Amino acid sequence: MLIDTYGRTATDLRVSLTDRCNLRCTYCMPEEGLQWLAKPDLLTDDEIVRLVDIAVRLLGVTEVRFTGGEPLLRPGLTGIVERVAALTPRPQTSLTTNGIGLRRTAPALKAAGLDRVNVSLDTLRPDVFKALTRRNRLQDVLDGLEAARAAGLTPVKVNTVLMPGLNDDEAPDLLAWAVDHAYELRFIEQMPLDAQHGWTRDGMVTAGDILTSLRTRFDLTSETQDERGSAPAERWLVDGGPYKVGVIASVTRPFCAACDRTRLTADGQIRTCLFAREETDLRGALRGDASDEEIAELWRAAMYGKKAGAGLDDPSFVQPQRPMSAIGG
Ligand code: GTP
Ligand code: 5AD
Ligand code: SF4
Repeated sequence: MLIDTYGRTATDLRVSLTDRCNLRCTYCMPEEGLQWLAKPDLLTDDEIVRLVDIAVRLLGVTEVRFTGGEPLLRPGLTGIVERVAALTPRPQTSLTTNGIGLRRTAPALKAAGLDRVNVSLDTLRPDVFKALTRRNRLQDVLDGLEAARAAGLTPVKVNTVLMPGLNDDEAPDLLAWAVDHAYELRFIEQMPLDAQHGWTRDGMVTAGDILTSLRTRFDLTSETQDERGSAPAERWLVDGGPYKVGVIASVTRPFCAACDRTRLTADGQIRTCLFAREETDLRGALRGDASDEEIAELWRAAMYGKKAGAGLDDPSFVQPQRPMSAIGG
């Protein structure tokens, strides 16, 4: 088990498969991209599968989410999913993607054993999509979403970050569209994890703002706390239900006390939190001749030291060195 001093147990593993991306979302990275991790520093497919096997067999992990950067850019993705879905005990498997390329890959991913996908989409307007992501790929994302549903990678969730002056007027339109297509929409508060360190609290759209905007067109009623569990999204029934819209309010209503996550970066570091200042290197142990049990012990020790929370409100808060795209969201 991966337990910490606050009594939390991490059963949800998020594995970043690459730090590269084919979009350039303004809240994530600059136009020119970032200094990508070098190939020899990346875990190999075999190394990833071995670590996930240790996590499910020895550490009580029951859910594995593949993230990036953009995980569909990882050449061995389908093979990794297949091997992870064949582990005993079999973990739940999911993918967080920008959706580009999903039209082509969704059937193979489903066949490999992927259970579901979350797709990032911030706008339905081509010009705003271009301004936000600096690429003209809206139709590819919409096609990817359809393909995911058709392949049975369900429920298909859509993640939306609202940015002032760009798409913050679009929340009700996005919700009407998501209800219509039966995608589970979640709005995410922008977090201080951009590579440019440009985030400010005054410059972000809050959960309160989002709910106010949605209520101009929809009636929202809160779901009960027991239904939420450790999910980051708080959900509201739309117009009496059954459709529910989510809000992930990491900044204004942090959910750290219920956090059940452990993170593995593409270069083999364990992070206890999105906002952790320290990492624990498993790649060195893997490439030495550490046993599975020794690696498990390093992982347990790392998670035991997990901090109470992200600490966004502490005066001493400093953004982590690694940007979101290299942590995996
Ligand atoms: P499911 O609800 O199980 O589908 O997954 P999820 O919402 O945890 O995953 P997803 O990758 O879609 O993440 C959605 C948003 O939640 C992203 O912006 C993440 O950065 C954010 N998020 C995920 N895990 C954490 C966390 O541990 N802490 C905080 N503050 N935010 C998180
Ligand atoms: N704050 C909040 N969400 C972010 N994402 C990327 N960067 C940020 C940020 N700074 C979102 C993406 C994707 C998910 C993994 O994280 O839009 O949906
Ligand atoms: Fe790529 Fe995701 Fe960052 Fe956008 S938020 S640039 S899709 S890694």
